[in-house]
Order: sequence, then structure tokens, then C-alpha cells
Amino acid sequence: MPRDASGLLIPGRVGGPRRVPDRIRRPEYVGRPGPREYDGDDRYDAEQIGRIRAAGRIAAQAVEEVAKAIRPGVTTDELDAIGHDYLVAHDAYPSALGYRGFPRSICTSVNEVICHGIPDDTELRGGDIVKVDITAYKDGMHGDLCAAFPVGDVAPEAADLLDRTREALARGIRSVAPGREINVIGRTIESYARRFGYGVVRDYTGHGVGEAFHSGLVIPHYDAAPDHATLIEPGMVFTIEPMLTLGTPERPGTIDWDEWADGWTVVTRDKSLTVQFEHTIVVTERGSEILTLP
Ligand code: MF3
Ligand code: CO
Ligand code: CO
Repeated sequence: MPRDASGLLIPGRVGGPRRVPDRIRRPEYVGRPGPREYDGDDRYDAEQIGRIRAAGRIAAQAVEEVAKAIRPGVTTDELDAIGHDYLVAHDAYPSALGYRGFPRSICTSVNEVICHGIPDDTELRGGDIVKVDITAYKDGMHGDLCAAFPVGDVAPEAADLLDRTREALARGIRSVAPGREINVIGRTIESYARRFGYGVVRDYTGHGVGEAFHSGLVIPHYDAAPDHATLIEPGMVFTIEPMLTLGTPERPGTIDWDEWADGWTVVTRDKSLTVQFEHTIVVTERGSEILTLP
């Protein structure tokens, strides 16, 4: 049901509440309008990094479980149930559930949805691309990742955008080293995306993550110099999560977007296809390590 006559996404029905057993520790924002402002550090010690890695591994395994179910006809809420059940079965809280009122446990963003898609009764169709973004909270730490998947066979332009967005994330990760500016990450991603004429979403960014879901540290995916000149330091933990589009920027360098009345779903204004990949990483003495691997 939830597509218009031209196949564009429209809001579907969101299911009833998801339950998390009482024994699983909730993040502080659950049951409140939003998170408290984070005044802690973006740098973590080895013990804390171990806990972020453990949360990140569960989130990555949950993405793998969800991916196994992706096929034409499955609903995004069925994918949410799989992700939710996997996290809970591994004693993790689905960080999205109850974050600023978000009603589901994972984000599922189809085709022109840039990010924050709410799982509902939308059925996937062959030729779609679905982005699955899962964050797990365990032992006081969040681990956050997103991966994009084709549904059946997709158009060559879609497959290329998917591969190149994965590669843009890989290059962004490889650009990380202590002593460089945060900005090096976005500069690397944007210059790679430009080779193919892709748009880069600017208004949604990577972020510090760990004790807080979003710490306040911002990681742009474009060259934001002279802003975001903060130096990268060993022990820093943050996400890199580029969103690239087939759309042409309406204003120079900028991909325009609209938010649905649900207050979450973000779509490209021109309804062009968009792909996202995300990892949580920790800065090491020489480079970085991914903390969201299965
Ligand atoms: N996981 C998303 C991110 O990468 C945030 C989702 S917020 C939610 O930052 F409430 F929509 F889950
Ligand atoms: Co994130
Ligand atoms: Co995420």
C-alpha cells in the first residue's frame, strides 16, 4: 500500500509498542522528551572502548540478521521486529526506541528516504534499495552503524551508488589519523563523491558516540573548512555516515531535503535515490579501528 502511483514512498501504518524486558538497562532519554546535554569527553579508555565495541558488534550482527530477511514483499516493520528481537536477545537496548519519541527499534530508509525512516507496513519491492541503521546500547555504551542493501535486482546506477557510498565511507575512515582536522574526513568523502557527480547530504552528519547516542561532536561529510578544524585525537570515538545521492544539487553543493509530518522521515526534495553507510570508529595511535563489525 504505502507508495503513490509513481512508486514514491508515502507514510504507512506504524505498529503497536515494542517491549524490552525490564532487566535490560535503558539509556537515560527513554521516557523523556530527549537526551540530557552530554558534557563528557569524546575520548575513551581501553575498557570503555571494549564496551563500545561489544555494543557495536551486537548492532552489526543485528544488521546481518535483518539483511537475511530482505526480499520483495517483506515489510520494513518485519525487519524492525528481527532487529529488535536480536538486540533484546543479546541483552542490548535498541537505542532508537524512544529516542526523542522515535517509535521503532531500527531505522529503515527506502530509496529516496535519506535517513530516519520509520519501519511500517511498507512492502519492499524488487529494484528498491533499503538502508538499515541500527544502534545498540549495552553496558552503558552505544554502537551505531548503517548498511544499504539492494532488494532483488537493482538498476546499474543504483548498484554503482551503493558500491561507491560504501567506498566513500571506507575512504573517510582511512583518512582518520591523530593530529589531522576532523574536516579531512568530509574533504575525502566529498572529493570522491564529486568524481561521479553525486550529491552529498550536508545537514545530517556523523557524531560522537559512546556514553551518549549523539555527543555533540559533529563530523561533516563535506569540506567544511575553516569550520570543524578540531584536531583528531587518539581514543576519540565517533561515527562516519555519508549519505550520497543521484540528485543534482539545487543550491551549489547542497542536497535539499524535506521532512515528513511524522517528524522523522527525511527525503530528497527531488526524490532522487540516496544511499548511506555508517560505522562507529575509534581513533588509534596510527589511524583508526572500526567498532561496528560482526
Ligand atoms: N542511528 C542514527 C544515526 O546514525 C540516529 C537515529 S535516531 C532515531 O545517528 F531515533 F531515528 F533512531
Ligand atoms: Co549515527
Ligand atoms: Co545510525
